[in-house]
Amino acid sequence: MLLSHLLWRAGIENVVIEQRSREYVEARVRAGVIEQGTSDLLRSLGLGSRMDREGFVHEGVTISNNRSPFRVDFKHLVDRVVMVYGQTEIQKDLYDSGVGAGWPIVFEAEDVQLHAVTEGQPFVSYNVGGEAATIEADYLAGCDGFHGVSRHAIPSDVKREYERLYPFGWMGVLSETPPVSHELIYSRHPRGFALCSMRNPMLSRYYIQCVADTDAASWTDQQFWDELRRRIPDEAASSMVIGPSIEKSVTPLRSYVAEPMQWGNLYLAGDAAHIVPPTGAKGLNLAFSDVYYLAEALSQRYSNGSTTALEDYGAKALRRVWKAVRFSWWMTTMLHTFHDAGDFEHRMQETELDYLAGSVAAQTAMAENYTGLPF
Ligand code: DHB
Repeated sequence: MLLSHLLWRAGIENVVIEQRSREYVEARVRAGVIEQGTSDLLRSLGLGSRMDREGFVHEGVTISNNRSPFRVDFKHLVDRVVMVYGQTEIQKDLYDSGVGAGWPIVFEAEDVQLHAVTEGQPFVSYNVGGEAATIEADYLAGCDGFHGVSRHAIPSDVKREYERLYPFGWMGVLSETPPVSHELIYSRHPRGFALCSMRNPMLSRYYIQCVADTDAASWTDQQFWDELRRRIPDEAASSMVIGPSIEKSVTPLRSYVAEPMQWGNLYLAGDAAHIVPPTGAKGLNLAFSDVYYLAEALSQRYSNGSTTALEDYGAKALRRVWKAVRFSWWMTTMLHTFHDAGDFEHRMQETELDYLAGSVAAQTAMAENYTGLPF
């Protein structure tokens, strides 16, 4: 949807083909941290007013090691901040504005297939409500997520995949309770990682590390709250207001990158090409920088005929992708309990956190990455 916006603004006709319904997309709970560059981009497109009204600027986060907390002050260290605003809310703002402008968005498209990707005239076929349809285009943007069809159009002898599966998941709970802290708390604890986040003053979002294939329904709310409170600093645990969960789900953790991000006239963006574990909330932010580069490249192609930026798209996007993959992997590795880790790995993890707690240089590097590398 963001790519569609950027293209329409550049006068480039495009159609969004979405497998799901608008209601489905708008009901999905996603992460809630927006990098400075992402919020700046939304504002520059006139899409930032609800975010600025309803979102919350966060100037730092708390990191806790074994229930002992320290703060990383982004504003002070790098003069940049993040915005806490549900990524689902951004999706709603993009739909409101795109649908309002009358831009074509096909919802509930089934059996989407890409054709003639490496030939002069690629096209997409799909069914909507039992009717077959095709759309011819100069270019296809594969923004269809990790489970989408686009990436599979790249032949396996060309595609190179890099993957790290983590031996645990996150159980997330949304509850209509006041957040335990005005900033996020990322907690490392021998029982497992925990994260205290929020959406607004009466909506909290909490996560705990769990066994990868845990069935969320097998955990009662009380079990979740008890486990969460064991892993976070005492002060937070004792002041936490608990209540019924309004959503409870388990997410697997994975790092994944497919190269190249371009094949013929197909350009991959976002989760279609790469996945990061949620630690650090980089997924949507990374999709934003991909499509920003792609929109710039397509704008050049249609304004002066130059395809140089399109040819460079994959390499340029991947340089930033790999840095976010590194950061998400670093945060995940530093903060989670790896049950198969040996004594040496435990000491390394303790030392990483001790170094971060005491070093302005280490905190600056974290702040620079957490608030988002430039794009
Ligand atoms: C949230 C999710 C994250 O993965 C994260 O690092 C921070 C916040 C969230 O859902 O609020």
